[in-house]
Amino acid sequence: MSALPQYGKHLHPRETMRAIVIDRYGGPDVLRLATVPRPVPTRRQVLVRTRFIGVNPKDVVVRKGKFKIATGNKFPLIVGHDIAGEVVDAGLSCDFAEGDLVYGMINDRAGRAYAEYAAVDCRQIAKAPSSIELRVAAAVPLASQTALQALRDNAQVKPGQNVLINGASGGVGVFAVQIAKILGANVTAVCSHRNVELVNELGADRVIDYTKTDLVDLEERFDAIFDVFGNYCFDQLKHLLTPRGTYVHTIPSSRIFKDVARTVVRRRRAKLVIVRSRSAQLDWIRQQIDAGSLRVVVDRSFSLNDVAEAHRYMETKRARGKVVLEVG
Ligand SMILES: NC(=O)c1ccc[n+]([C@@H]2O[C@H](COP(=O)([O-])OP(=O)(O)OC[C@H]3O[C@@H](n4cnc5c(N)ncnc54)[C@H](OP(=O)(O)O)[C@@H]3O)[C@@H](O)[C@H]2O)c1
Repeated sequence: MSALPQYGKHLHPRETMRAIVIDRYGGPDVLRLATVPRPVPTRRQVLVRTRFIGVNPKDVVVRKGKFKIATGNKFPLIVGHDIAGEVVDAGLSCDFAEGDLVYGMINDRAGRAYAEYAAVDCRQIAKAPSSIELRVAAAVPLASQTALQALRDNAQVKPGQNVLINGASGGVGVFAVQIAKILGANVTAVCSHRNVELVNELGADRVIDYTKTDLVDLEERFDAIFDVFGNYCFDQLKHLLTPRGTYVHTIPSSRIFKDVARTVVRRRRAKLVIVRSRSAQLDWIRQQIDAGSLRVVVDRSFSLNDVAEAHRYMETKRARGKVVLEVG
């Protein structure tokens, strides 16, 4: 390793760690194991010894360079956002103690999660759920907070409302179905036939197989449409919204930005969720998990050495729930 990773201001010159880095944007093979300096936490950060890492489509997008307007051209770069692990340095202004098991999401643009250690702002993590393994907890932060923010904050879902969730069997969708139910909604979930049983088990009131039905042809009306998979747009589905209904999209594009801008003073609105990690949200999610109200679905786990394989699997867009890396 010649160059230093991007969080240079936090470096401690003597300590090192293993990390998955990229030296350029590209396919899964650009991911390589390297020895890099270990980060040193600032006052508002804790140092987490990462045990498990959640893999998200965003990691793939960053690795491909599709987000390089934000992630820049400084390499090597460590990608990834979701971690679960143990606090080894509790920081000076944080309410954590050494040995605490925590989970959370690093809000930075590229991430920094694919490493043995991560220095994380203590406002972006929380105590891990006690009723599930840490491996399973790593699958939770980004996807569950996306679902929570889309449904509760963007669409302001209320008890008794009708909610449509497109992409209900993926990483975000499995949380969205359950969180919509916790918020008291009637949930219509959309997935392919192979996932109908899973989505039913998660509590959906009705499941639509997208291979048989085009959502455009539905006759029902919804107070909120959460287009998790993002293969529709506001104009295609706005006729399915109630007069004050909200359509929430997940993928930033010029089209959704225009839709958001032109509907801001309309009754039927388009919104884009952009997930941010917050301890209070993670506390709420932990309570739901430990109370048995929110189930975490992990599809596959890979070792850190097999990170390229994990990315190839994510790129199939057929994951059933979440994918996790074991740091070992
Ligand atoms: N803006 C944000 O803050 C934010 C945050 C999180 C995620 N996202 C974005 O949200 C999207 C979904 O994320 P994710 O983690 O849920 O992805 P994911 O786990 O990769 O989604 C996989 C799921 O998509 C389903 N799927 C595939 N084709 C579909 C189709 N035509 N219609 C409906 N469902 C289909 C698959 O179900 P079947 O196998 O049944 O087809 C599979 O279960 C990604 O583009 C991601 O980048 C954005």
